[in-house]
Amino acid sequence: MAVRPHGGVLVDRRYGEKEQAEELKRAETLPTLMLSLRNLSDLECIGTGVFSPLTGFMNQEDYLAVRDEMRLADGTVWSLPITLPVDKELAASVREGTEAALKGPDGFIYGVIEVESLYRIDPGREAEAVFRTRDAAHPGVSRLLRESPLVVGGPVRLLRLPDHGQFNCRLFEPQATRRAFEERGWEQVVGFQTRNPVHRAHEYIQKSALEMVDGLFLHPLVGETKADDIPADVRMKSYEAILAGYYPKERVFLGVFPAAMRYAGPREAIFHALVRKNYGCTHFIVGRDHAGVGDYYGTYDAQRIFRSFRPDELGIVPLFFEHSFYCRSCNGMASYKTCPHPESEHVILSGTKVRGMLKKGITPPPEFSRPEVVRVLIEGMREQKKE
Ligand code: ADX
Repeated sequence: MAVRPHGGVLVDRRYGEKEQAEELKRAETLPTLMLSLRNLSDLECIGTGVFSPLTGFMNQEDYLAVRDEMRLADGTVWSLPITLPVDKELAASVREGTEAALKGPDGFIYGVIEVESLYRIDPGREAEAVFRTRDAAHPGVSRLLRESPLVVGGPVRLLRLPDHGQFNCRLFEPQATRRAFEERGWEQVVGFQTRNPVHRAHEYIQKSALEMVDGLFLHPLVGETKADDIPADVRMKSYEAILAGYYPKERVFLGVFPAAMRYAGPREAIFHALVRKNYGCTHFIVGRDHAGVGDYYGTYDAQRIFRSFRPDELGIVPLFFEHSFYCRSCNGMASYKTCPHPESEHVILSGTKVRGMLKKGITPPPEFSRPEVVRVLIEGMREQKKE
């Protein structure tokens, strides 16, 4: 039996084709609110059911409950605020009880919001609660401090899907992935979130997880990330480079995740798990410092936070993995949980270190990254230099 979407119903906030054309025309007559790239991906995720049970941007009641209790006002677990900031000047053109058109950064109208509440957030409190820091150097906090603290909440309708360019062919909505898993006869599916190219440690935990279930849903994020993360096309190319040669075709499904990164560590791990449940996953991988950045979170905080909820409230089983690496003495992949050898035997490289090596023309060793992936990384580096 297929896994229940979060909150019970897979949301779809779209119209039929004919109605959609009419609604788009009508939307042009409404006051306009501008969406950032992140807001646009949120709108897409709400509209296509990725963020089920959300049907719109959060009103004040849900926002405060999420910020302070990691729940929606009705008690459903939800760990990240999904809000729509509006500039002061534009806020004057919308009132509670009216509608507004939602325009993307490219000038197209992507949806409509029924304004239910217009309220002011406290960025410092949100930062403290969601990111566990008020440090403006944290990418999530710096965004909060940059954006308007005025936000609008209310149900939305999605009128146009954003174009994901080269990723369109790998974009599968929750309805589609659920169907695909069912067609393959997978009862248990483990989801894998990533914002990085695939290194041996990733492959190791993915395959360890796959040992326990029927299918592996590789789901690299292609939404907005911070500028110094590896670009999404390189991330995807790294997967495409090794999929055929190292993964069993009949047990792996690769799709892209259109959401933006938040860098909220533990809270984002809960969020990542819940939305993968909406895609049809029964299990979700949480490794070392999931969705972390800098030193803001402890290595296993993103695993520990799962204890705050009852398993039935989450409805998806987290699979925890300790820091994994290649060990020369084991002569294979291992983790701090399974390896008895000293650190000097472990091949561990940080993202920064890898970038530094590539810049100098030094290739990371095959124990860290498969040569096929290293080639993609070098090529990616060349492309970046050209830009
Ligand atoms: S994330 O921001 O999307 O979490 P990343 O792509 O690095 O970043 O990680 C994807 C998943 O793999 C996360 O669950 C993370 O905890 C896990 N992970 C990454 N590297 C390791 C590692 N060396 N050992 C164990 N888990 C890891």
